[in-house]
Amino acid sequence: FDRIFTSSSESGKPSLLRPRKGVIIGVGQVGMACAYSLLIQDCFDELILQDIAEDKVEGEVLDLIHGMSFLPPTDLKGGTLKNEGKDADMVIITAGAAQKPGESRLELVGRNVNIFKSILADVVKYCPNAILLIVSNPVDIMTYATLKLTGFPKARVIGSGTILDTGRFRSLLGKKFNIDPRSVHGYILGEHGDSEFPVWSLANIGGAKLIPGEWEDLPISEQNELNSVFEEVKNAAYQIIKLKGYTSYAIGLAVTDIVKAILRSQERILTVSSLINGLYGVEDICLSLPTVINEKGILKTVNLSLNEQEQAQLLNSAKVLKEVCDQLKF
Ligand code: 2OP
Repeated sequence: FDRIFTSSSESGKPSLLRPRKGVIIGVGQVGMACAYSLLIQDCFDELILQDIAEDKVEGEVLDLIHGMSFLPPTDLKGGTLKNEGKDADMVIITAGAAQKPGESRLELVGRNVNIFKSILADVVKYCPNAILLIVSNPVDIMTYATLKLTGFPKARVIGSGTILDTGRFRSLLGKKFNIDPRSVHGYILGEHGDSEFPVWSLANIGGAKLIPGEWEDLPISEQNELNSVFEEVKNAAYQIIKLKGYTSYAIGLAVTDIVKAILRSQERILTVSSLINGLYGVEDICLSLPTVINEKGILKTVNLSLNEQEQAQLLNSAKVLKEVCDQLKF
């Protein structure tokens, strides 16, 4: 087809623009919501989808490629870490068993650690310098398992953690107070799961604290209303899984925020899961705290002032997770 172009120049991108390559492992509902969001937000130059279900990969790739004339360019293809995905900048793992209605995230652990063992062997071999973003549940345990199984430095192993819960919290508070959620500030920390907790002492809208003095000083009606916002956040996944079978869009958007923070070295503070050693008395466990993220991955953890109750809740989350990790004997 040389006749179509007046002159043929060397193919490939100019060397100044280093192509950014990402691999998504697992093309279930979560993996595909991540892929879609990453594509429409122009994150990677090259994106590879990998799954043992090869037909599904092929179908998903075709479906998305047919949309490329509506999007900024990304070289999207199916493949493996060994071939197309070799030396990727980021590997995003969403593979594994998902929660069934009524099942907790922690109940998935045995099945998913086994699935991870084979995936991670290839990650170490073919993408030794990649930043790993773990999304599969129970995400804090899977992040810890990934650190142990790969031996990667802690800066390069990130779990999506409570970024989604923090997003849910801000969205629901925004709805309640009729304010753009981006102007609502508050964190859900600890385990991405049943022991997570809200940092009410620091939650604010445009700088105005939601709880001006002590929690006990609030009228009971306000305590109940705020409590029910958090309960809705904590139970969101159970409710959505009961209604539609899985959660997908919000986690896809949350993952994209983490990816952008890394690829654009944004030094953003996000509540992601990482290895915590020593902060607030938490030792050798992955859980979520506000964390600064840039091109190197985890840069540092924010040392925020939690009140006594929040510190106790954080330690409780660490204890819940530690018990599961101890059973796994890494
Ligand atoms: C969520 O919170 C299931 O962890 C997933 O939506």
